Amino acid sequence: MSELLALATAIAREAGAIERGRFHDPRTIQTKSSEIDLVTDVDHAVDALVRERILAARPNDALLTEENTAHAGSSGVRWIVDPLDGTTNYAHAFPHFSVSIGVEVDGRREVGVVYDPMRDELFSAERGAGASLNGKPIRVSQIAELRRALLATGFAYDVHARRTPNLAYFERFVGRAQAIRRAGSAALDFAYVACGRFDGYWELHLAPWDVAAGLLIVEEAGGRTSDFVGGPAPASGQHIVASNGAVHPAMLEVLRD
Ligand code: IPD
Ligand code: CA
Ligand code: CA
Repeated sequence: MSELLALATAIAREAGAIERGRFHDPRTIQTKSSEIDLVTDVDHAVDALVRERILAARPNDALLTEENTAHAGSSGVRWIVDPLDGTTNYAHAFPHFSVSIGVEVDGRREVGVVYDPMRDELFSAERGAGASLNGKPIRVSQIAELRRALLATGFAYDVHARRTPNLAYFERFVGRAQAIRRAGSAALDFAYVACGRFDGYWELHLAPWDVAAGLLIVEEAGGRTSDFVGGPAPASGQHIVASNGAVHPAMLEVLRD
């Protein structure tokens, strides 16, 4: 295991343990971009802890975390972190959320870790070395038809303010897939595609910290990632499709217009 993966793993486990430990505590909840975009005291506490751990171990690395301003570095290594992916779930004590840590070297995704502290499931990948769940190799599913596929999606926080095209996509997929889940943690949606629980996942208007780890984990598990027209998946998270590869063409067809 590389030094970067070992550090990302240790930090994700430590951060996740805090989230698990405070899961039943009373929450301090504030809103961000809209009345449904929440942030809790635990998001802030874990963001601060992750930054402290990364900068203590690697002071010259760059950092982008959801709850703090970006930090420039000089090493060519950049950490992209969602300290708590699934905040709405966390705020409601719905036990499905994760810590997501992606590491880029010279602008290329090299390491990804997504940790679900409630199930103690740690998904990880390193470029060229495959993906694993708690140390055991994982692969995407082999389901090739949309009507046998379990798909995942999500809705951005501006869904009250403007009619999102994802409602139309959702309706189309409902009519063609076996079933769809909206579980509430994008990072876990990717991880579940990687280990074959989901066959495909699509979402609009994600952020870099939602996708930095998940895209690599899916690719290293043998899956395919792209934008909505089959081009490279944008690091911004703007339009993302991740699948087992086999259902990808059918998903792109549904998302075509
Ligand atoms: C959100 C979750 C959700 C997705 C949203 C994200 P957050 O992240 O990943 O599943 O649908 O688009 O913003 O706010 O809980 O870190
Ligand atoms: Ca997120
Ligand atoms: Ca978050």
